[in-house]
Amino acid sequence: MRKKIVVGNWKMNLLRDEGVLLVKNILKSKFNDKINVVLAPSFLHLYKVSKMTSSFKNITTSAQDCSSSTSNSLTGGVSVEMISSCGVKFVIIGHSERRSNFNETNIQLQAKVNMAISNKLNVIFCCGENIEKRKNKSYFDFLKNQITEGIFHLNAKQFSNVVIAYEPIWAIGSGNTASSFQAQEVHEFIRDLIKIRYNETVASNTSILYGGSCNNINAKELFSQKDIDGGLIGGASLSADNFVSIINSF
Ligand code: 13P
Repeated sequence: MRKKIVVGNWKMNLLRDEGVLLVKNILKSKFNDKINVVLAPSFLHLYKVSKMTSSFKNITTSAQDCSSSTSNSLTGGVSVEMISSCGVKFVIIGHSERRSNFNETNIQLQAKVNMAISNKLNVIFCCGENIEKRKNKSYFDFLKNQITEGIFHLNAKQFSNVVIAYEPIWAIGSGNTASSFQAQEVHEFIRDLIKIRYNETVASNTSILYGGSCNNINAKELFSQKDIDGGLIGGASLSADNFVSIINSF
């Protein structure tokens, strides 16, 4: 059975004390303990947040990026070993903000995926089209290419450590969320791709999350779609009340 997962991607938000306060408020809230909650703060918060959440069995942490390199001579780099050593279980790879701001290509992302998987980190692999590709209806081909080049080289055992997040770029931070129909259509398409590449069991065991202006108002409808297994939440994950309300939307 695939897992229900809600991830809070803090991006480049929150000073240290603000991050600690947010986690404290999340931990003291009542939420559905059948849902797997993943907090993805900046690298500076990651160790602290991992420590704070370590005794909660359904709450874990994620890095927002990792290096694909094993070289020590990489100023500013953060290796997968460093991430794992902080008790972190996931890493987000391929977020559109990294693809566009850091020019990360599918091939570079594939190297990060390999590095993460071979070091036993679970991968939250992001894909998503821009508004032009949505309008000219080339988004299925585009998403297929991102997924094929980024993660379909993995064997089925390796792939069991991958969660996919569909995040249409036009919906991120815009308040313009995908409709549940638009999101479900893509999630079903992605699950079919997994079925063709691997098999029915792998496809039905893979969690596929939606991200892009998902909030406490629209989460219930999005999460009720048959191929939507949770959310990758940006802005709304910065408020404990909103984030917990999203977790409780299943
Ligand atoms: P928003 O929820 O702020 O639209 O961000 C989505 C996102 O990019 C999560 O990774």
